[in-house]
Amino acid sequence: MFSVTCVAPVNIALIKYWGKRHEDLILPVNDSLSMTLSTNELCAKTTITASKSFEHNRMWLNGEEVSIEESSRLTRCLKEVRRLALATGSQKVSPSWKVHIASVNNFPTAAGLASSAAGYACLVYSLARLYEIPFSDELTTVARQGSGSACRSLFGGFVQWHRGVLDNGTDSVAKQIVSSQHWPNMHVLILVVNDQRKKTASTRGMQNAVNTSTLLHHRADKVVPERINQLREAIQNRDFQTFGEITMRDSNQFHAIAMDTYPPCVYMNDVSHEIVSFVHSYNNAMGSLHAAYTFDAGPNACLYVLAEHVPQLVDAIQKVFPSDLMDSAEYLRGLPISPEHLETSQSNKIESLGIEPKKNSIKYIIHTEIGQGPSQLGEESSLLINGLPQ
Ligand code: DP6
Repeated sequence: MFSVTCVAPVNIALIKYWGKRHEDLILPVNDSLSMTLSTNELCAKTTITASKSFEHNRMWLNGEEVSIEESSRLTRCLKEVRRLALATGSQKVSPSWKVHIASVNNFPTAAGLASSAAGYACLVYSLARLYEIPFSDELTTVARQGSGSACRSLFGGFVQWHRGVLDNGTDSVAKQIVSSQHWPNMHVLILVVNDQRKKTASTRGMQNAVNTSTLLHHRADKVVPERINQLREAIQNRDFQTFGEITMRDSNQFHAIAMDTYPPCVYMNDVSHEIVSFVHSYNNAMGSLHAAYTFDAGPNACLYVLAEHVPQLVDAIQKVFPSDLMDSAEYLRGLPISPEHLETSQSNKIESLGIEPKKNSIKYIIHTEIGQGPSQLGEESSLLINGLPQ
């Protein structure tokens, strides 16, 4: 019996992936670019045990058993990794043995984060460790076939998923642009907003968009290539002004495409739009860009902010979006923000934002930072004992 346990990070796109040119191979219509978040605050964790004596492949997701056979994406990932194992693996663990897989996310589903990205990246990375397959671009093509955005979670720092041009997808790979060390003071605040609506899942939403939105095709052909180059340069130069502006513009364009889809897909809600206005007013009051928002296929905001500006920004958020739970430990999660910092921040500037406070519209905030790619943990972290959940 052989076992490995690994963690993999969440990534948030600055230039969004939205639209496929091939559904099964998950080939995108445009390049995308993301930042990987630290696994200390948000991660997927997976244990895989392989044994000659197992009769079936089995999987437990957040404690519940799920059928691998019923998911074409899971089946495909397993098949593809085993093909790589036969070609380049160590053969210590036979790819013909059945596997038991347990996977958990350490973050609440309410955070609305693409848990599939961290989950599939963790699955593929763990399988690669199990079969001792050397890390290669090809591994990113396997994670991509689980969930498109998962290919970007195989690296830390800033990552580009190249759309590729080949029909078989072998050139649709993710590559690291720079490691997390390049811009270590890049922090993120995830604002989890109150929302009960049922939203269209990403996979469906982007299918409808490819079929009905003319703006999507204009963006893929004309806008994204130029934006990717500008953003890469901003990252190289640690130029937060350009970085932030491109990020906000791309988020806005992605949601414009959602609205240009017929029938339209609405992912942001009133609070999301209030956060957008707040960030622009805040940046105006600061005299330069201190915060940049991006929204995925849901209403929660992800704000990019440099470490030195976090206390001031949190202070402003708490003034404009006060909450009855503000003093509870549940409200501000993740990396600590020292209270002295909050008190000495330039709160006087915030008073003049002129925004009417909106009570209880933000449920809680997760404070995290740029992070590294997946890693293997020791046996003590295993989610399986003798191949079964603990
Ligand atoms: C808005 O990767 O979840 O987060 O490939 O169909 O599994 P599938 O979609 P998924 O889509 C992510 C969309 C996004 C933008 C992004 O992460 O680039």
